Amino acid sequence: EVVDARGKYILPGAIDAHVHFRDPGYTHKETWETGTASAAMGGVTTVFEMPNTNPPTGTVEALNLKLKSAEQAYVDFGIYGLLGEDNLTELEALIEGGVAGFKCFMGNTFGNLPSPPTGAILEGFEIVAKHGYRIALHAENASIMARRSKKLREAGRCDPLAHLDARPPVVATEAVSRAAILAEWTGARIHILHVSSGDELRPLREAKARGVDITAETCPHYLLLDERAYTEKKSLIRVNPPVREKTHQDQLWRAVQDGTIDMIATDHAPHSHEEKHRDDIWTTDCGFTGVQTQMPLMLTQVGAGRLSLTDYVRMTSLAPAKAFGLYPRKGALLPGSDADLVIIDMERETQVDSAKLKSKGSSTPFHGHAAKGAPVHTLVRGRFVMRDGALVTEAKGHGRNVRRIQQMPTPKPRNVETTTAAIVKKNRK
Ligand code: NCD
Ligand code: ZN
Ligand code: ZN
Repeated sequence: EVVDARGKYILPGAIDAHVHFRDPGYTHKETWETGTASAAMGGVTTVFEMPNTNPPTGTVEALNLKLKSAEQAYVDFGIYGLLGEDNLTELEALIEGGVAGFKCFMGNTFGNLPSPPTGAILEGFEIVAKHGYRIALHAENASIMARRSKKLREAGRCDPLAHLDARPPVVATEAVSRAAILAEWTGARIHILHVSSGDELRPLREAKARGVDITAETCPHYLLLDERAYTEKKSLIRVNPPVREKTHQDQLWRAVQDGTIDMIATDHAPHSHEEKHRDDIWTTDCGFTGVQTQMPLMLTQVGAGRLSLTDYVRMTSLAPAKAFGLYPRKGALLPGSDADLVIIDMERETQVDSAKLKSKGSSTPFHGHAAKGAPVHTLVRGRFVMRDGALVTEAKGHGRNVRRIQQMPTPKPRNVETTTAAIVKKNRK
């Protein structure tokens, strides 16, 4: 199969470390078929999918249900197992069963999965650390948010900005700091999801300097939208954590440029049109579609000189591949080639259009945004899944669970000289 790539760039396919495909449980919002079709159309060749489905992916039984749904996938995928208080005894079975990593909800978000007490998180980290799998964290402090939301609601606030007011940066910063300390103590590898504020960068930088194996992502909406968008976008912009003031956005861009933030992921979180357009901010579902719009939106930034193409590829492909054990050659152990590629046209001008997205819950605050630079062909392990801007429908089911080919590096021994845990242990001997 030949395509003309003259004047275009051939890049490694994007790896999106943060998507919600809702299947099983909320298939009116998304399914594996629609979610991965959207990925293929967006130049994304591997996704890592979140456990807040119904049932949540906290048992091998639930994992197997999800793997069954995922047989429809166009692109390759990894599945996050849930790390919760009630399923600590299941974590090793989940690894055995084929998860690619874990997700812990430190704060409340869609699906209402309870946030485990710190003691349970610590135990979970200890178990997973033995196997080297990375634990992704929704790092928001549940208690601070609950108290603030209650007060705001009692005061009758239900405007879009009430959502931002319920979640000031301390909500995330406290949780990032705590997660980093627990990771340092246990030797667990962790990943901070959706960094939204400048305040989180300090604990992140400090943890990296101390040698904690911590990675972090931000999302296009934190880099491209700010608090001024609430007036126009209203409930549509509601997302956890919230889009914040411009000063945070500026700090996030600097952290992208200096490498503090390792990845750009989308937090693809589709909801139905009705669920996204409500007058009362508190009853509007949080999050929006993203896996298909990331590449055009961010390539526009590349074209504008805010990010080099090399850095873009590092943040959307190389860094997630390294963090989740797919580096250097994901496909080497699977039949066929490992050509996960996207061919992009930096000159192609498009406009984000909800109606054109393959995602079921296609509402997005980026609707109408102009973009320059777009994926035109996507190949997963040598096979076209998008060709000339069109979905290759015969490729449905081509996607594979990357866990089968994933090779997590052997866990490093803890930083024996410096952690208090290690010093105490040594003195006891
Ligand atoms: C996500 C969802 O809808 O699953 N929502 C969101 O606002 N980001 C959950 C999450 O990632 O917090
Ligand atoms: Zn989250
Ligand atoms: Zn999410």
